[in-house]
Amino acid sequence: MTSISVIGAGYVGLVTGLGLADLGHRVTCVDMDPVRLDAIDSGRVPFHEPGLDELLARNLGTTFSVTDDLDLAVRESSVTFLAVGTPSDENGIDLTFVEAACADLGRVIADKPDQHVVVVKSTVVPGTTDGPVTAALERASGKAAGDEFSVAANPEFLTEGRAVVDFFEPDRIVIGVDDPHAEAVLREVYRSFADTPLVVTNARTAEMIKYASNALLATMISFTNELANLGAAVGGIDTTEVMTGVHLSRYLTSYTDEGPVRAEISSFLEAGCGFGGSCLPKDVAALSAHAASVGSGHVVLDAVLDTNRNQPGELVGLVEQELGTLESKAVVVLGLAFKPDTSDIRESPAIPVIERLLAGGATVKVHDPVVRLEDLPDAISSAVTQVTDLHEAVESGEALVLVTRWDQYQELPALLDALSQPPLLVDGRRVIDPRSVARYAGIGHS
Ligand code: NAD
Ligand code: UGA
Repeated sequence: MTSISVIGAGYVGLVTGLGLADLGHRVTCVDMDPVRLDAIDSGRVPFHEPGLDELLARNLGTTFSVTDDLDLAVRESSVTFLAVGTPSDENGIDLTFVEAACADLGRVIADKPDQHVVVVKSTVVPGTTDGPVTAALERASGKAAGDEFSVAANPEFLTEGRAVVDFFEPDRIVIGVDDPHAEAVLREVYRSFADTPLVVTNARTAEMIKYASNALLATMISFTNELANLGAAVGGIDTTEVMTGVHLSRYLTSYTDEGPVRAEISSFLEAGCGFGGSCLPKDVAALSAHAASVGSGHVVLDAVLDTNRNQPGELVGLVEQELGTLESKAVVVLGLAFKPDTSDIRESPAIPVIERLLAGGATVKVHDPVVRLEDLPDAISSAVTQVTDLHEAVESGEALVLVTRWDQYQELPALLDALSQPPLLVDGRRVIDPRSVARYAGIGHS
């Protein structure tokens, strides 16, 4: 059993903290957001994540606690995971939260007698753990990294919506360490994962593995979207069948005695209105800016982002093309979350889709099973209305624009079939069979 503190009780910090607590470690999550802390302390997970409530109920008050007292949490632990946000802007990664947390952490490490281990779980560009993180900790503690305290990189690969499963059944654990004490401590923290592939490398390589992984997924999505747009422009090409044909390649499908088994990577070759979320867009942008800052090429990364920025416009363009104009048209946006099974709207394609619809003069209603109107940016929440019932939603517009592939939208063909004058369905995720609805338009569909 290791005593662990986690700074940041967001998606990554809370899932990691509760997961490690469930495995028997003693974990304290530190956050500075009182609303978030109150919710967790009273047994409520402050965001939608399947399975996390049960994990909290099982561990709160025994192996798991939350606090705003960083000093105490760090003092009573031997390892601290940093799981604060790392946003990016046009200048690259913003390390404000990481550096502020390191300054607080360093002050506690200053008079801690043991060799405390600081583990960077936040996604940071290569060179951050052994660069700005180590420098901030050394500055605040007056101690030397490697001799008097340790630093390590341990990137996170969870996917929102299946974060709990990802924690308990990880595909890999990556540990970037430059000293043996950090390696020994992290091996002990992850001792329950004996069957999981473990990559032990240096901090920079570990950091790069994380970016390379996300950049590959983003590249595959933009590649598919570009092909879908091309197929629609050429005409007479069914993008779904194109991708089915591509997926059947032995590189993407294994042929076993039980039949073909599609590799999971294929799920990143689905055309649509683009990737969103708190990670793919910001990580590709941060890597591109980092490449520029060290004088390295980043043409592919920039093209991936350009194509992605273009996709919401492609979707709204279809609505306009089919309705003739957006002016005064009633349009219902189906799905606000950046993907199903999460309440997260960070960088959701729904936002630019709604903005473009409003700019074109449409009257916009929105539907989402978990996201609430007040979660949206003010400029949008004040300009749209929310419909909570899907039956009512399909009757509320001249066009329905599907942005998030929530399971319940599979009911759309049946719901539309029951209407005497069904609206146009514009499928931003290509999840509805075009033949199953009266009026269909979709990304990559000519
Ligand atoms: P988040 O915004 O959900 O959570 C961050 C939390 O840190 C917030 O609750 C905030 O209040 C807290 N915080 C910030 N500074 C603090 C400080 N000084 N002291 C105490 N608390 C502080 O972020 P997230 O989605 O969990 O992402 C965290 C990191 O993990 C990012 O680098 C992200 O790129 C990476 N990551 C995220 C995911 C994901 O699916 N969300 C997956 C893999 C990696
Ligand atoms: C992604 C990665 O999948 C995780 O491995 C990684 O740990 C995480 O980022 C992270 O670093 O935070 P996540 O953002 O939760 O996870 O969601 P994804 O399932 O990857 O979807 C991202 C976006 O891509 C969604 O908007 C989704 O709709 C979109 N997408 C996905 C497509 O547009 N097309 C596809 O074919 C697949």
